[in-house]
Amino acid sequence: MSSSRVSLTQYLVEQQRLHGHIPSQLRLLIEVVARACKRIAISVNKGALGDVLGTAGSENVQGEVQKKLDIIANEVLIEANEWGGHLAAMASEEMEGIYVVPNRFPQGEYLLMFDPLDGSSNIDVNVSIGTIFSVLKKPEGSQGVSEEDFHQPGTSQVAAGYCVYGPQTTLVLTVGDGVAMFTLDREQGSWVLTADDVKVPEDTKEFAINMSNMRHWDAPVTRYIEECLAGEEGPRGKNFNMRWIASMVADVHRILTRGGVFMYPWDKREPNKAGKLRLMYEANPMAFLIEQAGGAATNGRERIMGLTPTKLHERVAVVLGSKNEVERVTRYHLEAG
Ligand code: AHG
Ligand code: MN
Ligand code: MN
Ligand code: MN
Repeated sequence: MSSSRVSLTQYLVEQQRLHGHIPSQLRLLIEVVARACKRIAISVNKGALGDVLGTAGSENVQGEVQKKLDIIANEVLIEANEWGGHLAAMASEEMEGIYVVPNRFPQGEYLLMFDPLDGSSNIDVNVSIGTIFSVLKKPEGSQGVSEEDFHQPGTSQVAAGYCVYGPQTTLVLTVGDGVAMFTLDREQGSWVLTADDVKVPEDTKEFAINMSNMRHWDAPVTRYIEECLAGEEGPRGKNFNMRWIASMVADVHRILTRGGVFMYPWDKREPNKAGKLRLMYEANPMAFLIEQAGGAATNGRERIMGLTPTKLHERVAVVLGSKNEVERVTRYHLEAG
């Protein structure tokens, strides 16, 4: 497909027509999410002029202080999606339970999960942030909708993506047929296809991890990073560069653009072996995108998309990006027993 002025709508219609990937309810869902992201981008861009910075004075179910934009983005996504008839329910980082579509609206067959605003600690300092989303189908034959309907492995996702609010606003999408990127044309108000069939290089010389947690790491993570830091003289025989933006969206966007490995591993502060990031609306959608781009995503031992969630806000260790590096980190974990 040519990348000259192909709109998101045109891309989705062609996917539907040529590959039969996208039923019309799913196409509507993706377009509505993209429209909501445009509205969030407008609030993000206003910054101090729009009274959107700072904290909201509340906490989410994970004990994090909510920023005003966490709440605004959550509300925008709900309002945009609840009336279209394409959804049965939604779930979000910022809501304890699921949000069932009110019965004044028609009920659809999809389930939408999102991290409305990823990288909350970067909002007030004007660094790239984003929105992450994941789409599942409601299980066949289930009456009504319940939280259990969301407990599906990442392999069941029918679409996933994110929008990064950076120097450019970019929507990155997979419907299971590769990864496409759309840049927001602010003057026209439209999403324009700017990269198709995105691929993550299998090898890299760049890693992303929060080094300040080093003293808490598990031995395989320390081994991997120490080998990277040893540079040309060390066992890897090459020099590595490090980047950590502290917005997963922005770190993953860099990896989809030029390769790299991203890690938020389990560390010794967490008794139950879980990591920091949330499986259903952070790790799974990013794993789907990365795998669709030829990369890999594990929790250090197993494929992230193979894990069956047992609760909405379940946390997971994350290693994702360039395939050979992810395989190496995973091997180090398995060798350690
Ligand atoms: P969120 O802002 O949605 O709660 O997610 C923040 C996540 C993720 O975006 C990022 O990779 C990580 O937290 C950064 O954590 P540290 O501050 O521990 O580096
Ligand atoms: Mn948060
Ligand atoms: Mn997040
Ligand atoms: Mn968030």
